Amino acid sequence: MAPNFRFAVVSDLHIALPETIWHHPSRFHLVEVSIPALESVFEHLTQLDLDFLLLPGDLTQHGEPENHLWLQKRLSKLPFPTYVIPGNHDVPTLTANNQSIAFRDFPEYYRKFGYGDSQNLYYTRTLLSGVRLIALNSNMFNDQGQQIGRVDAEQLHWLEATLATVKDELVLLMIHHNIIEHIPHQARHPMAQRYMLENAPQLLEILRRYGVKLVFTGHLHVQDIAYEDGIYDITTGSLVSYPHPYRVMEYRQDNYGRHWLQVQSYRVESTPDFPRLQAYSRKWMGDRSFPFLVKLLTLPPLNLPISQAEALAPSLREFWANIANGDALFTDFTAPVHLQNYFQAYGAIAPDGTPNLIDNHISLLL
Ligand SMILES: [Fe+2]
Ligand SMILES: [Fe+2]
Repeated sequence: MAPNFRFAVVSDLHIALPETIWHHPSRFHLVEVSIPALESVFEHLTQLDLDFLLLPGDLTQHGEPENHLWLQKRLSKLPFPTYVIPGNHDVPTLTANNQSIAFRDFPEYYRKFGYGDSQNLYYTRTLLSGVRLIALNSNMFNDQGQQIGRVDAEQLHWLEATLATVKDELVLLMIHHNIIEHIPHQARHPMAQRYMLENAPQLLEILRRYGVKLVFTGHLHVQDIAYEDGIYDITTGSLVSYPHPYRVMEYRQDNYGRHWLQVQSYRVESTPDFPRLQAYSRKWMGDRSFPFLVKLLTLPPLNLPISQAEALAPSLREFWANIANGDALFTDFTAPVHLQNYFQAYGAIAPDGTPNLIDNHISLLL
């Protein structure tokens, strides 16, 4: 039986020491704030009497050894245990190159943060008596050497064997790629499918069979809680993109014996170099969103001609910031009428058409 406990999730840190930052005009990640934003989060979290902290991947900007080392040292100073998994940015190549560590070397950097003496990129740990973490690696390389988001067969077998031994424990599952859709048709849309785990249905089937209900993901850089058939995929936005969010959660049992997960979300409001971080970062995202919007408008299902897409894109510059923020409603949305239904489907609307604000602050009955 799990006790009451409190923990935090901080995702997609994309840590970049100043000397590792490349300057590119269309870079979407505000990596300049990665370290000061994380320091600001830790200042808050260290006051909260947390039982543990989860970091669901993209710990570093490009898998640089110096960034992994910096994070490893910083995490070792925290007063609570921290558990990590790799994101695609942490292990971008199979073998080491002049920028990044080798895929196989990831556990070496995070021995004290979940891996222990494991040689694998996945592991399980008892977090508290009655509470088990299963941390999966969703990064693989296909036959052409390209990185893909998938859980391999060996890991799925290990997962089944591990879940078969779990008795009376609450299981928390952490994986970088999303396993339930957070935006409409995410698994099929050419721009969004890379944020989903390729074999999500296979993983979901195992989780359902063993009654795993809570999954913590990252990668999409959006605040969103998605629910499907007994499983919550709680994805947390990135510390280096608007709205620079993180979550604090409490698991508790009420007087009727029911179990709840209470989710609270916070955001980094400022850093020393960015005193108005929220406004600055929202504008940064809008300023860089034109190519993304043109692509979205010209691809199926909208298929707008390029000239129309380019004319429309400036009026949609806030669109992705609203999505990333979570709980988007698009009630004052100024798109042409024939596009409104399409864009409103991205909002936080229940099937009956009423607002359904569950992405940032919610108590989930488990
Ligand atoms: Fe990321
Ligand atoms: Fe990612």
